[in-house]
Parts: sequence; C-alpha cells; structure tokens
Amino acid sequence: MTQDELKQAVAKEAIKYVVEGAMVGVGTGSTADRFIDELAKIKNRIDGAVASSQKTADRLKAHGIRVVDLNSVGELPVYVDGADEITEHLAMIKGGGGALTREKIVAAVAEKFVCIADESKLVGVLGKFPLPVEVIPMARSHVGRELVKLGGQPALRQGFTTDNGNLILDVYGLTILKPLELEAALNNITGVVTNGLFAQRGADVLLLGTATGVRTIRRK
Ligand code: A5P
Repeated sequence: MTQDELKQAVAKEAIKYVVEGAMVGVGTGSTADRFIDELAKIKNRIDGAVASSQKTADRLKAHGIRVVDLNSVGELPVYVDGADEITEHLAMIKGGGGALTREKIVAAVAEKFVCIADESKLVGVLGKFPLPVEVIPMARSHVGRELVKLGGQPALRQGFTTDNGNLILDVYGLTILKPLELEAALNNITGVVTNGLFAQRGADVLLLGTATGVRTIRRK
C-alpha cells in the first residue's frame, strides 16, 4: 500500500468516530484533507465543522460543509487530525503545516482527539521531526536564544506567516524524553504563542495505517 492509501484508510476509519447531528473539529494537513473528503460523503448527517486553519476551512466549504466559528460552539465531541510524529503514549509533534495554534485550541475544546496517521509517524522518542514553535514576530530573536539554551537549534521557517500573523521557528536537534515538561517550558518563554508538542492534550485514540490494516491504539 502507498502512503496515500494508508492515509485514505485511516480517514475512512475516522468517520466512525463522527457523532451524528453534532459538530466535528477538523485538523490540517494531507491526512486531514483525506478525512475532509470522507466527511463530505456524510455531510447531511452532521451539524457542521470547526476548522483548525484557513486552508481546512476552504476545503470544507468547497465540499459544501458548513464551517462554524469555534466561539459559537458549546460542545465539540470529536476532533480529527494528523500528526508529524506520535508515540505509543499518544503524545505528538504537530505543526508541520504551521497550523499548530489553532489545532491546539480546537483540540482543547474537543472531548475526544482522534489522530489519523500512516505508520511512518509512529516513533519511540519525539524530536527527529523539527518541533514547530509559533512566535510573535518582535520576539523572534529572544525566543531563538532561549530555544538554544534548551538544547535546540531553531531555524526560521522562510517565507511563512501563520493564520494568526506570526512566525514559525522549527527547532532541530531535540531528543524529547519528557514531552510534558518541555511543552510547559516552551510555553513559558515570553513571545511564544504555542508550540507543536501535544503532550498535555495528547490524542485519545490513534488510528494508524499499516500494511496489514488500520491499527487502533487508545489512551491508557
Ligand atoms: C499541520 O499544522 C500539522 O499539525 C499536521 O497535522 C501534521 O503536519 C500532519 O500532516 P500530514 O497529514 O500532511 O502529514
């Protein structure tokens, strides 16, 4: 199976977690795009969707799915999104597409986070994928120096501005043995909007696409 077929398989499986007549939170990225295409097939059975990025909102609307502002939503039973790396404990690195802040906000509201990923995303230790950190533009150099003190090598994502008008520093060279602690430490740096570690609010379910079928891993 190709990587795209694996993404397709987990996107299909995730539809089973969508609650009929309710809102669904939708992530960003190539796997989330496959999910949106599947969601379009059942669009008359949901109330609408909350998007984690402008790109996702545009794709949802192109499929005729109603997009609702998060502030108008009381309850969000499920959020479906991909990951750049995920562990068996369901901690993740996200933000390869730069949508980490809105993804984290929608995930915080959702009762259940369903992560959809092909098997290449499952890792023993997070950090090989550079950790995205969203930064207020005037704080870029300060945050960069603080990230070096934490052992990382930050690189400014060139030519990229987030949906929130900020910058992304991609942090290389981290071996993240304590994701919860590092997530909190990064959030403590003045000028950081958010970081791509999803440990405090990890996934509740991982649907992992493998050559032998979709494997389901639940939070213990
Ligand atoms: C977007 O900002 C990211 O968090 C994506 O969810 C993550 O990068 C996974 O993307 P792919 O499904 O394209 O690998």
